[in-house]
Amino acid sequence: MQRRLALVTGGSRGIGAAIVRALAEQGFKVAVNYLVNEDRARRVLAESGGEGAVFQADARDHGAVAAMVEAVERALGPVDVAVHNAAVSFPMGPFHALPWREVQAKLEGELGAFHALCAHTGPGMVGRGWGRIVAVSSTLSRFAHEGFGAHAAAKAALDGACRVLARELGPHGVTVNVVAPGLVDTDATAHQPVEMKQAVARATPLRRIGQPEDIGAVVAFLCSDEARWITGQYLPVNGGLHTV
Ligand SMILES: NC(=O)c1ccc[n+]([C@@H]2O[C@H](COP(=O)([O-])OP(=O)(O)OC[C@H]3O[C@@H](n4cnc5c(N)ncnc54)[C@H](OP(=O)(O)O)[C@@H]3O)[C@@H](O)[C@H]2O)c1
Repeated sequence: MQRRLALVTGGSRGIGAAIVRALAEQGFKVAVNYLVNEDRARRVLAESGGEGAVFQADARDHGAVAAMVEAVERALGPVDVAVHNAAVSFPMGPFHALPWREVQAKLEGELGAFHALCAHTGPGMVGRGWGRIVAVSSTLSRFAHEGFGAHAAAKAALDGACRVLARELGPHGVTVNVVAPGLVDTDATAHQPVEMKQAVARATPLRRIGQPEDIGAVVAFLCSDEARWITGQYLPVNGGLHTV
């Protein structure tokens, strides 16, 4: 049987890099998308030991994603698995005080990136009668934290789109699921105070914050044949914080 091909947006660092490694370990070919860090994307793929290639594209840009998917399919074959992971930055602070343009950029960037990925990979999956779509959301889409209004709103929109898409694509053999990490140790959280991370670890039943591999393993599971009966789900992956 042909090995399946996964496309991971934002695969050059952090959670995306761990997803690439976990998928490669499961035998997927992997197309690693990045925005600027080509060297890191190449290193992630090489260290994963997997087959694949790296592809530059701004995940928020429909035209760039269309061109990337075409390039991926030319180089590696049809995309069976699409993972929306690229980290779209967001303004922090009380929601009412955030500049609307920055909130709007986060909403458009997050949902636009997911829409572009689905628009350009979904039809192929439907045509072949098999596919996996996984969106990396956040525990913050359901559990409120002061200062994260823009992020929470954009990730909640992502969750909503996934629920509907799961119903729409289910009859065609395509599953759609949301993985919702809690706080994970990546470049995106490197600037956050150590005391805050220690407080989150203390409040978490499993008494630590997340590592990228904790998330990568779950995404890879949802992409596997073993997860064939799971769709439309929102899976918090956060050591039990808020959810236990
Ligand atoms: N870290 C957390 O605590 C946490 C918690 C919950 C959810 N999440 C979610 O997990 C995902 C990954 O976050 P992370 O913490 O791993 O981030 P990260 O370490 O900052 O890595 C960001 C990744 O996204 C890529 N990227 C950024 N903008 C992009 C764009 N416009 N187009 C394509 N790629 C882009 C980067 O590529 P370059 O290397 O080329 O810049 C990099 O590969 C995000 O969706 C985030 O919201 C993170």
